[in-house]
Amino acid sequence: MEYLPFTRPSIDETTIEDVVATLHSGWLATGPRVARFEAALSGYLGGRIIKSFTSATAALEIALEAAGISDEHEVITPAISFTATPNVILRRNATPVFIDVDLKTRNMDMEAAAHAVTPKTRALMPVHFAGLPVEMNTLYDLANKHNLRVIEDAAHAIGSRYKGKLIGSFGDLVSFSFHPNKNITTIEGGALSLVNTEEAEQIDILRFHGISRRDDGEMDVLLPGGKYNLSDVAATVGLGQLPHLDAFNIKRRQLAQHYLDRLEGLENILLPEKADSGHSWHMFAPLINFKAFKMTRRAFIAAMHEKGIGIGIHYPALHLFTLYRSLGYARGDFPNAERIGEETVTLPLFPGMTVNDVNRVISTLCKILDIKEPN
Ligand SMILES: Cc1ncc(COP(=O)(O)O)c(C=O)c1O
Repeated sequence: MEYLPFTRPSIDETTIEDVVATLHSGWLATGPRVARFEAALSGYLGGRIIKSFTSATAALEIALEAAGISDEHEVITPAISFTATPNVILRRNATPVFIDVDLKTRNMDMEAAAHAVTPKTRALMPVHFAGLPVEMNTLYDLANKHNLRVIEDAAHAIGSRYKGKLIGSFGDLVSFSFHPNKNITTIEGGALSLVNTEEAEQIDILRFHGISRRDDGEMDVLLPGGKYNLSDVAATVGLGQLPHLDAFNIKRRQLAQHYLDRLEGLENILLPEKADSGHSWHMFAPLINFKAFKMTRRAFIAAMHEKGIGIGIHYPALHLFTLYRSLGYARGDFPNAERIGEETVTLPLFPGMTVNDVNRVISTLCKILDIKEPN
């Protein structure tokens, strides 16, 4: 039977032809197609300023730099995310302050975040986990109360909506990822959505060597900028993907709902938060109490792989990594993050899948865990 990975990008033939045309065009690095991609994304997000990058990691790092985050500052962020999220805080020499997450939404506990604010806190950096938006009203109330910047890590949340409004169509600095496992891809790539034109000009400079133009048109260098500009080849892929985004997300929602409907009520399996109309279902990751099944996660993943099904882990708890333990974090600090880190499994979910594929995952999972397959 065909191997079913946990994720796979959907690239149509037109996009492939357009990439070939870009390669023939003689202009491969940042040029007209990047400008078109940024404009298209801006159109999708209600006219916001969009700056593209080589990755979301680059976008987050530049967002923190533009927001003036430095070594005196603390940034509040969840204990469950990909390590890029807190890493970029450290790369600014600032201090990541981890917060536990909710077991079902996997999003940062806003009450705990409110308690963690100190005079050094300069920014909140939440993650819309798996595409489920954090409570945006609570988040921005907290930011406004303490005059904090918000850098939304929306790597999973392109096309997600909060109370009907697209993530990235409002808010402070919002970062998206277009890595191939995300809801749309540019191969590697990311983007920032923002509102402030002066900050946007600064970001232009920061993402390309610190280069600026003097009034006489000559080049000047204002600061040691990075080299984070997207290529026209990557932007061509993005231009081919964006028109499909909403349809991709509808398909993801249908498949996630099918998982939820069939897996609901199974003992020792904690499902992610119920389908919400604004959820873009970047992934479907239940928690499995492996101890109760007398099995290790590693053995489960190997057995699923043996049956031709790929399983991911998103993510181990951040504070237990060597780097973050060295800041003083320890086991016991964030019980929910630790449980998620040990029990989470990402089941296959991508728009090219069928309901039959979901059924195949469910029946294989039930056989391996030795439970009766639900109806
Ligand atoms: C939550 C989160 N933040 C940031 C990133 C970094 O994205 P990129 O690979 O585009 O740098 C990822 C990538 O997986 C992610 O999942």
